[in-house]
Amino acid sequence: MKQRTLTILKPDTVTRHNCGAVIARLEQEGFEIRAARMVWLSKEQAEVFYAVHKDKPFYRPLVEFMTSGPVWVLALEREDAIEYLRKVMGATDSAKAAPGTIRQQFGTNIERNAIHGSDSPDNARTELAFFFSTSDLA
Ligand code: RTP
Ligand code: MG
Repeated sequence: MKQRTLTILKPDTVTRHNCGAVIARLEQEGFEIRAARMVWLSKEQAEVFYAVHKDKPFYRPLVEFMTSGPVWVLALEREDAIEYLRKVMGATDSAKAAPGTIRQQFGTNIERNAIHGSDSPDNARTELAFFFSTSDLA
């Protein structure tokens, strides 16, 4: 079933000039880009986006990192997009991510891990709506 998911090319990907390479990889993996934009998240936006982690020890540093510079947000479409993107991204910790995954190739550690991907259909819906209007996604 064709699905849509949200990806964020995190600030480390932008500052290390890896956006083109990561997008090329996503396109090679069969994802269609349905919408995209660059955004510099405010502290409030990052706090809301990652609210699910608000009680975790890494929440403050995560908000700090995600607001340290601009990011690219993209709406991606593919067969089984949500699960497939998570597979191509690799494990959260870039240092432990499997060879050939985006996080292994482009990330640095558990925080600076290059890319975000929605982790469920419900979260994909919420996260797409967080960044894109329905007309963007038509
Ligand atoms: P994401 O939400 O960004 O796609 O990553 P994920 O599902 O693989 O990982 P999640 O548990 O949702 O964590 C969100 C982001 O928080 C940072 N993190 N830091 N220092 C730590 O122990 C730690 N754990 C997670 C990472 O940037 C992670 O992507
Ligand atoms: Mg997550």
